Amino acid sequence: MEFRDKRNPNHKPVRKAVIPVAGLGTRLLPITKSVPKELLPVVDVPAIQVVVEECVHAGIEEVIFITGRGKGGIEDHFDYNFELEKILEQRGKTEELERVRAISQLIRTISVRQKKPLGLGHAVLCARDVVEDEPFVVVLPDDLISSEPSVTTQLIEVYEKYGQGVVSTMPVPDEEVSRYGIITGENWAPSLHRVRTIVEKPEPGMTPSNLAVIGRYLLPPEIFDFLEDQEPDESGEIQLTDALSKLARERALVGYEFTGRRHDIGDKLGFLTANIAYGLNRPDLGPEVLSYLRKKVAEADEAEES
Ligand code: UTP
Repeated sequence: MEFRDKRNPNHKPVRKAVIPVAGLGTRLLPITKSVPKELLPVVDVPAIQVVVEECVHAGIEEVIFITGRGKGGIEDHFDYNFELEKILEQRGKTEELERVRAISQLIRTISVRQKKPLGLGHAVLCARDVVEDEPFVVVLPDDLISSEPSVTTQLIEVYEKYGQGVVSTMPVPDEEVSRYGIITGENWAPSLHRVRTIVEKPEPGMTPSNLAVIGRYLLPPEIFDFLEDQEPDESGEIQLTDALSKLARERALVGYEFTGRRHDIGDKLGFLTANIAYGLNRPDLGPEVLSYLRKKVAEADEAEES
């Protein structure tokens, strides 16, 4: 299949986002025993709201959550909470009331249950009947990416230009390639690769690139056929990476090196640094967070010297 380098008037618009939230979040235990990691805060906003707002700003009209056991709080967060609203109203807390209501009015949400956590590929496949025959984005709420325009907007622009599936990529240091799916392929324009295959968690030095696939994808509906045909791996999971490699081989797949700063909040250190970074960017908190950090660094330097 050809890569079109011009606007494709025949493509269907990207209207739907699939957000898989059925994972167990074992890297963040014990908090994830009772709290879905997607509801953990980025300062005072749950991570899931940050990515849903990213979808809204990118023009997405419908979000499909792939949920699992214990994840009901995510749906509740985007629903009305009449009791809370009434109390806020009675107490004259207008600003808080508006903030709370705005979340329920953000976007239409649909939930599909993934009854067993059989992997990211399986989670995406669960969305098939709701997505139907349209291109769609997959947004992993573990990956918070601050950029202007957002990565989802950037992916939609690439899709509109080339008419093919797109995965977001980011260069990672050699010693970290074994934590990611790494693309191989040819660079044909600035920030763009034609993906040949994706190698899952390679040994350092074993792949020609160090471009890791990050949690934003724009997929054509054909991906569902590849996912359906796919055998589970040795751990019993259906991996999205394998279906993407097949899509790249049999159709086409673009690797797009996005601009933006990414935090992996599914990991303890990533969760902490995301909160520091987002806190520093907040006009109401930034200066105080910065002076706290400066004080801590000065204390650490002093301790090292003595
Ligand atoms: P992860 O690989 O981060 O897995 O999933 P996890 O279970 O959430 O977390 P750890 O590794 O045990 O700490 C990537 C994304 O795919 C979703 C997760 O919710 C997360 O958004 N996922 C994963 C599912 O929806 N279903 C699955 O079966 C697996």
